Amino acid sequence: SDEPAPRLTVIGTGYLGATHAICMAALGFHVLGVDANAGKVARLNSGEVPFFEPGLPELLAKALDSGRLRFTTSFADAAEFGDVHFICVGTPQQPGSDAADLRYVDSAVTELAAHLRRRALVVGKSTVPVGTAARLTELVRRVAPAGRDVEVAWNPEFLREGYAVDDTLRPDRLVFGVSSDWAEKQLRAAFGPVVDQGTPVVVTDLTTAELVKMAANSFLATKISYINAMAEICEATGGDVTRLAEALSYDDRIGGRFLKPGLGFGGGCLPKDIRAFAHRAEELGVGQAVSFLREVDAINKRRRERTVELVAELAGGDLTGVRVAALGAAFKPDSDDIRDAPALDVAAALHRLGAQVTVTDPAATDNARRSHPELAYATDAMSAAEAADVVVLLTEWNEFRLVDPEAMGAVVARKRIVDGRHALDPGQWRAAGWEYRALGRP
Ligand code: UGA
Repeated sequence: SDEPAPRLTVIGTGYLGATHAICMAALGFHVLGVDANAGKVARLNSGEVPFFEPGLPELLAKALDSGRLRFTTSFADAAEFGDVHFICVGTPQQPGSDAADLRYVDSAVTELAAHLRRRALVVGKSTVPVGTAARLTELVRRVAPAGRDVEVAWNPEFLREGYAVDDTLRPDRLVFGVSSDWAEKQLRAAFGPVVDQGTPVVVTDLTTAELVKMAANSFLATKISYINAMAEICEATGGDVTRLAEALSYDDRIGGRFLKPGLGFGGGCLPKDIRAFAHRAEELGVGQAVSFLREVDAINKRRRERTVELVAELAGGDLTGVRVAALGAAFKPDSDDIRDAPALDVAAALHRLGAQVTVTDPAATDNARRSHPELAYATDAMSAAEAADVVVLLTEWNEFRLVDPEAMGAVVARKRIVDGRHALDPGQWRAAGWEYRALGRP
């Protein structure tokens, strides 16, 4: 059509927002990123991505050069600039509760709406409790000078850390939660190049769009805890959960993805999302429908405890003074994110039980040091392992997979290893004289 492409703003330049803003500019849109944090805005404007994500720094540099992308702290500028405004602020878990904390969403939408004087679409991307979009619709109408000319839509985001660029430019699907044809048209225009690739588009109401995100992350978490529950059964019976998982994976209906047993899931999304979903369902009087998510959470936490127990067992029961080399801190490989990281959780628990823990991680050491200053840190696996009584692999970084058991065997005090992620070949390590233990496996 001859209609000009909509101009986009992205409110919130954290993980989700920065990625979205940069990728939309890469697709050819004019984009203004907005964040209340002036420091973050300055870093982004100077070409610095404030977190670790492959491919993103290069795309940011190109987008800034093209003149199609800049960042500001001004909501007034954003309202003036944009036709479609994406809300990408965080919804962390409330301290002391399972509920999501909506203060950042509410304040971002309120501040933006106060300046909206012409027709515009406010699109929520943040992961929120069902019912939020309806509430924001009322809020926007009340606050915006343009009143009913401002609509709210919902467009959940499914990107994974480490694959954020690809997941944004080539998503599995787009979900548009809308309450008018106009809103759908705006969203189709705002994702024009992605829609034109043939990406499936699911158009639905606001409520369903909010729920899709919760349902997707709950399913993924459930799949992981399912195989980890089987690991518990294997531990009680002498079975091998890695073979079990492999055998299940050949059934197309089950599939092998997200069926990797081990230390379980962490990060800024899955753990808090399943808790918030269970909490919201309880509020709505349908808690029973997703009460299994409490079990999913409990199974996941038990894997961390079991890993600590395995280290203690290898050390002969008492961890006091035992030197442990912890390989990994990030919640998953190729990330510097330590939010609810199983690895750091285990390392901290070992420390509390009296062990002398030395942590190493290729990307997350700085973040880990800040949140866990009580732990010691080393620059790489070999130096972490020096004089260790037990080595425990907690995040399956490729460089940990490639560790030579002979070489590491020469620097440790005792050749004992717990593989918390099934990342190593037990045969190879045992052949090199190591006592090797893993979750759900003899
Ligand atoms: C997750 C979802 O995968 C994304 O689709 C979603 O958009 C995102 O949350 C979000 O809500 O923003 P992410 O947190 O980046 O993405 O990480 P995942 O790759 O999903 O991994 C989550 C955790 O599960 C990691 O700790 C990983 O080690 C663990 N995991 C994953 C397993 O233990 N086993 C598996 O088989 C797969």
